[in-house]
Amino acid sequence: MKVLMINGSPHAKGTTYRALSEVAGELNKNGIETEIVQIGDKVIAGCVGCSACRKLGKCIKDDIVNDLILKVQQGDGLIVGSPVYYASLNGTLKCLLDRLFYAGSGFENKPAAAVAVARRAGTTSTIDIINKYFALKGMPIVTSQYWNMCFGSNGEQAEQDGEGMQTMRLLGNNMAYLIKCIKAGEQAGIKAPVKENQIRTNFIK
Ligand SMILES: Cc1cc2nc3c(=O)[nH]c(=O)nc-3n(C[C@H](O)[C@H](O)[C@H](O)COP(=O)(O)O)c2cc1C
Repeated sequence: MKVLMINGSPHAKGTTYRALSEVAGELNKNGIETEIVQIGDKVIAGCVGCSACRKLGKCIKDDIVNDLILKVQQGDGLIVGSPVYYASLNGTLKCLLDRLFYAGSGFENKPAAAVAVARRAGTTSTIDIINKYFALKGMPIVTSQYWNMCFGSNGEQAEQDGEGMQTMRLLGNNMAYLIKCIKAGEQAGIKAPVKENQIRTNFIK
């Protein structure tokens, strides 16, 4: 069992990393592997809406986005962490998520969670935006004792946010519990829901 963690920060060992590490610690204690992939230090172009991915099953721009599509498909869960930038997610992360979720498939029924960190404000709006990607792909959204947020300007400050750290630990345990329940269900013969062909009605008339 493995959970992919995407760190949207440009800081390799910053606040987001510290928060994600706390979640990872609990997943690991539960026998679940974790991989933190930092993307905020990369140049990632946004989606150009060419829809080539509908035929290719991957993005026409062959970069880290396609690597991450495979990692999400092969993994059992996904956590996306972002530093708050102007009460929203980091811009590089937004470019990545637009393409990852537009081009990616097979994400259904994999538990997912959003984590936001900030110096002071904007965490709830950031979490809301990230959760929207999961909701559109049928991914069960994992919660904690509070919204999945942590405060500080760096990793050391985040560590001093006792409630934030505890929230991260419970998030890890809750995700481990859900992943194990899904595995146990599969072993007991419970099948994932069969999807209908999607009806796409646009608001034209
Ligand atoms: C461009 C930019 C915009 C930011 N906007 C906010 C904000 O709206 N609210 C806030 O509390 N902190 C804001 N911050 C501070 C970061 O969210 C904060 O320092 C965070 O801990 C950085 O996480 P990291 O170390 O993982 O990069 C902003 C930082 C930058 C660089």
